[in-house]
Amino acid sequence: MKVAVAGGTGLLGRLVVAELERRGDVPVVLARSRGVDLTTGIGLVRALRGVTTVVDVSNVTTTSRRRAVAFFTAATQQLLAAADRAGVRHVVTLSIVGADTIDFGYYLGKRRQEELLAAGPAPWTLLRATQFHEFAGQLVDRSPGPVVVVPRMRSRPVAAREVAAHLVELAHGAPRGVVEPIAGPEELDMADLVRRRLRATGRRRLVLSLRLPGPAGRAFADGGLVPAPPFVTGSETAEEHLARLAAAAGQPGGAGTRST
Ligand SMILES: NC(=O)c1ccc[n+]([C@@H]2O[C@H](COP(=O)([O-])OP(=O)(O)OC[C@H]3O[C@@H](n4cnc5c(N)ncnc54)[C@H](OP(=O)(O)O)[C@@H]3O)[C@@H](O)[C@H]2O)c1
Repeated sequence: MKVAVAGGTGLLGRLVVAELERRGDVPVVLARSRGVDLTTGIGLVRALRGVTTVVDVSNVTTTSRRRAVAFFTAATQQLLAAADRAGVRHVVTLSIVGADTIDFGYYLGKRRQEELLAAGPAPWTLLRATQFHEFAGQLVDRSPGPVVVVPRMRSRPVAAREVAAHLVELAHGAPRGVVEPIAGPEELDMADLVRRRLRATGRRRLVLSLRLPGPAGRAFADGGLVPAPPFVTGSETAEEHLARLAAAAGQPGGAGTRST
């Protein structure tokens, strides 16, 4: 099966591409670095030739409502229009648990993406996921300087590779509309997770947990990012994930690290 992966060079996209290859599918990567710009449509029609299914894991890194809505509106409209012209039979899109209910800048972009998908011409499937284990690392990488400010949030972090495998499974099935979300096996505090990750990778940064203002901040802190059952549960715990990271970084004892 020829499957286009929008955002196939990103954190999750690379794992989706690897999973498709593992299953014998033919992935086609849609990313600017591969000559395809989702927001302008440049290169899209040609890239989608012969593609039967699209997995959309494209992204913009921002907390600005304006930038997020602009990106997901343009990218989703271009992708759906080109997919329609190419005769694509199924579009599988990844969103975030809480994107449909919490009025947070970036989430409003994701909500727009969800709405366009549901109203669009292609048969579709929408999966919402909780934060990836890797999200804690993204927070660190995006914080310049010695302090990492972490929004106060309860989360059920899930392994990105388990999300990728589930997306590919959905891509192989029939379009299902909104499906059960996917979440990790345990509920954790994000600042705690960031501290554990820093320790497991041998890095030193001060971690400040800050409640975001307004209703969105309250929702983040009070479990609005944790799905209500039923949901698909990933198996990798934070401890297992950190142990893998620590082993890769040559650090002793990622597993069992405790927050400070
Ligand atoms: N991170 C989490 O914890 C989490 C949790 C739940 C759901 N999600 C969702 O998962 C998805 C993937 O997130 P991620 O963290 O893996 O993303 P990421 O690492 O930031 O990757 C973004 C991808 O989008 C591509 N892209 C950006 N602008 C583009 C454009 N104009 N045209 C074509 N391609 C473009 C990038 O490639 P180029 O730069 O080469 O263009 C890259 O391949 C997002 O939709 C996010 O909302 C994330």
